Amino acid sequence: MLQTITIPHTELIPEILQKLPGWYRSQSDLRELPWRKSPTPYHTWLSEIMLQQTRASAVIPYYERFLAALPDIAALAACDDDALMKLWQGLGYYSRARNLKKAATIICQEHNGKIPQDFKALLALPGIGRYTASAIGSIAFGQPWPAVDGNVLRVLSRALASPADIALPATKNSLEQTLAPHYPQGKDAGDINQAFMDLGATICLPKGMPHCPQCPLEKICLAHAEGLELELPHKSSPQKRRHEKRTVLLLIQGNTIALHKRPAAGLLAGLWEFPNLEGQLNKTAVKKWLDAHDLTAQNLQQLPAAKHVFSHIEWQLSGWRIELVPVSGLALRENALPFVWVTQQELAEKFSLPSAFHYYLSEI
Ligand code: ADE
Repeated sequence: MLQTITIPHTELIPEILQKLPGWYRSQSDLRELPWRKSPTPYHTWLSEIMLQQTRASAVIPYYERFLAALPDIAALAACDDDALMKLWQGLGYYSRARNLKKAATIICQEHNGKIPQDFKALLALPGIGRYTASAIGSIAFGQPWPAVDGNVLRVLSRALASPADIALPATKNSLEQTLAPHYPQGKDAGDINQAFMDLGATICLPKGMPHCPQCPLEKICLAHAEGLELELPHKSSPQKRRHEKRTVLLLIQGNTIALHKRPAAGLLAGLWEFPNLEGQLNKTAVKKWLDAHDLTAQNLQQLPAAKHVFSHIEWQLSGWRIELVPVSGLALRENALPFVWVTQQELAEKFSLPSAFHYYLSEI
């Protein structure tokens, strides 16, 4: 059971919500976001999933390419897993793509191919949490559901001069409960949610002074009136990321390079990667590993270090480019390494490498 956090100055909420749809409609053309042109349930769902961990400007080309390849839910449910990963390559957080396909299959089997309008049914689909269910419901179906994320928490903490810690799930929950009874039904619901997204992305910024003169809430915002824009919101520090050292091996044999498929569960589940080992291996350690697997380097070159940041882990990468003394295909298969050996062309066309390895892609 979540603790209840009291949100102050809630009497301002009706006026805040009333100002947003008009402002949103007057300025939303400026952002030119393709999913806003025809917000069908499928378009809205796809865009909201892509936008979960990725900036809108980065999502646009992926969104357009994805829809061109998979124009409807049936096509998504039927698509090949590798083709799906290829469409997602570079966006990161690949479980989003796998969940999209799983959800598409459920929608086809259990909802007659139509995205459900009911909140609980939306929440039951893989990859859809409260924020995404509310965004889809409000934008595509006009449901009166507040989509509360970090942007809304920041904008309203400032507007209402709320001292609540926005890192606490209880604060988000209380704000949702407080907003919900004031939300209208119909197009305004989606426009209010998208106005909050636009305010958070372009005006009521998380770092530095917000652009208050451009804000539709300037005259009623309590943080602005009291000069507290930079003090609010209050946010306790999140947990520190775990640091992991890994050594990436570009194992080259003739015109092929080794790839390894990651385990089906956990970080980057089921994706292809360059073989990589725990720790930061020096030349002697790399040679020892090669020896242990009956491989011999004819050229061994250290690559520059790189870093890749996931939400909860930071990989500190070192790398080696290793040209192997050619051995027969049979010997490669027999050395028991769980690798596939692919040409550069196959790598580009058929395999999607997560962004964490892109730095080393250019070193092949
Ligand atoms: N971030 C999440 N959803 C969004 C949307 N519909 N428009 C712009 N940014 C968003």
